[in-house]
Amino acid sequence: MAESEISRLYHGLLLPRIAHTDESLQFLENFQVKDDDVFAITYPKSGTTWMQELLPPLLNGGDLTSIQTVPNWDRVPWLEETRAPLVLDTMSSPRPIVSHMPCHLMPATLFKSKAKVIYITRNPKDVAVSSFYFHKMASFLDDPGTFEEFIDKFLAGNDHVKSWRNPELGDRILYITYEEMLEDLRSVLSRMLTFLGREISAEALDHVVSSGTFKNMKNNKMSNYSLVPEDLMDKKKSPFLRKGISGDWKNHFSPELDAKFTAVIQEEMKETNIRFPWDEE
Ligand code: A3P
Repeated sequence: MAESEISRLYHGLLLPRIAHTDESLQFLENFQVKDDDVFAITYPKSGTTWMQELLPPLLNGGDLTSIQTVPNWDRVPWLEETRAPLVLDTMSSPRPIVSHMPCHLMPATLFKSKAKVIYITRNPKDVAVSSFYFHKMASFLDDPGTFEEFIDKFLAGNDHVKSWRNPELGDRILYITYEEMLEDLRSVLSRMLTFLGREISAEALDHVVSSGTFKNMKNNKMSNYSLVPEDLMDKKKSPFLRKGISGDWKNHFSPELDAKFTAVIQEEMKETNIRFPWDEE
């Protein structure tokens, strides 16, 4: 993993310079977590934008106004990104916040607070495919090279999923998967509501489910990144909301690459008792 004009290293993580300055990373480190803050934590390409669509109405009684009027990055700010200081100070509580940080790089105040965390996992092979296309279309990310080259870099990445199995968080963390959301979004949202100690009417929940479908998010200019200039995100190369399915990895991995990828992940997870449905595929 090497720094470039495009990326910087931060505690072993390669981060796009455009999104993370010294100031924004200091803001992350010193952030004062409030007890009613709600964090959605993801490894990039595991469903961050989806959570930015779903969390606001779950926390505000089902009101979809912000989904239709505020870009996703200002609606649910990204804690370690440059806009966070501007946005977080103006938000009323409870504040939904996203982050890609591994657990040990979260602000110390998180662990002293009562804030809740929702951790979203996605089949790492689909994450890798999604990330490959994102690196192709985003000029602020390093060129991915060939798919095989990209996978080698991807597999050398950090152990995000493991880091977030931190017993310190006790029952303040809820684990969900992208695949469960695809299969039955309504029931995942109900679990989230219970976990957050919130209620919304059945009808409001129907609307949240509906506005959170891939098709509707793709048509929502506040969520589909069409507001970002083409020189930063070239949607002709790949849309941001690309396919929104599970199993696209099967269209990209050769049997050899699949075996290599599986072996690395298995080795990584072997001392844990964490198992996912895709481990059995
Ligand atoms: P694909 O590239 O596989 O389509 P993130 O927001 O963490 O960067 O993740 C982006 C991935 O989540 C993309 O995956 C995107 O299409 C998918 N995604 C976003 N909203 C979705 C939705 N409502 N339903 C299904 N997938 C969604």
